Amino acid sequence: PARPVTPADIRAAKGGTPLVCLTAYTTPMARLVDRHCDLALVGDSVGVVLHGLPDTLGVTMEMMVLHGRAVARGLKRALMVIDMPFGSYEAGPAEAFRNAARLMAETGAAAVKLEGGAHMAETVGFLTARGIPVVGHVGLTPQAVHALGGYRVQGRGADADRVLADARAVAGAGAFAMVLEKVTEPLARRITAELAVPTIGIGASPACDGQVLVVDDMLGLFSDFRPKFVKRYAELESEADRAIAAYAADVRARAFPGAEHVFADTAGAGA
Ligand code: KIV
Ligand code: NA
Repeated sequence: PARPVTPADIRAAKGGTPLVCLTAYTTPMARLVDRHCDLALVGDSVGVVLHGLPDTLGVTMEMMVLHGRAVARGLKRALMVIDMPFGSYEAGPAEAFRNAARLMAETGAAAVKLEGGAHMAETVGFLTARGIPVVGHVGLTPQAVHALGGYRVQGRGADADRVLADARAVAGAGAFAMVLEKVTEPLARRITAELAVPTIGIGASPACDGQVLVVDDMLGLFSDFRPKFVKRYAELESEADRAIAAYAADVRARAFPGAEHVFADTAGAGA
């Protein structure tokens, strides 16, 4: 449908056809994502994938605004959700509101996503009560990589109750959807069965109400890390490598530019 997807549509998709989500950071990628996905996430993974940062902790509000504006220009239908970067929301609800409002006002995003469980519930409630739709994100929360001691699977054994409590708290506070990252299949199944809002999994099994991946990961455009949960649908990095090598060889052999790329003094067809 041409009508833009709303948070209410996402909420209503609970238990139905799985929600299709990908990240996007640029206008051309947003156009592609928009054709096939329900939700386009301007993830703070942009810092790692496009800016060469070692993790998402160095991502700034300015980076999110810039990429958010680019993505908005490429979307007609998919719901645009933008990540709140590390340091922009944890100190308290009022600061979180100011930064979430800025992200939405300056980019056109319809919702924000923030990481964290029970300790973020008050903030999620504060934002939703003031007109900001919020997507939660529990399980592996990459902004907490140092506290978690790495990008490990979350919720194994006795730890499952903690992640379940986090998901409950954030959904109870008003989040309209919940990203579950890198949790076990039984836990994803349990959380999905219990929450009234859709779960969107990344490394969280097909039990979830939807799936999300970093688009550059699934296209084979980013290979610094290769998480087990990523399925490669293309190998664009090796394709780009091949193309650039061919260009370099052509230039060195004076095989490019060819006659068809050259301007004559008199304007002919296509000149
Ligand atoms: O930043 C990101 O890409 C995310 C995901 C859930 C993929 O938060
Ligand atoms: Na993120």
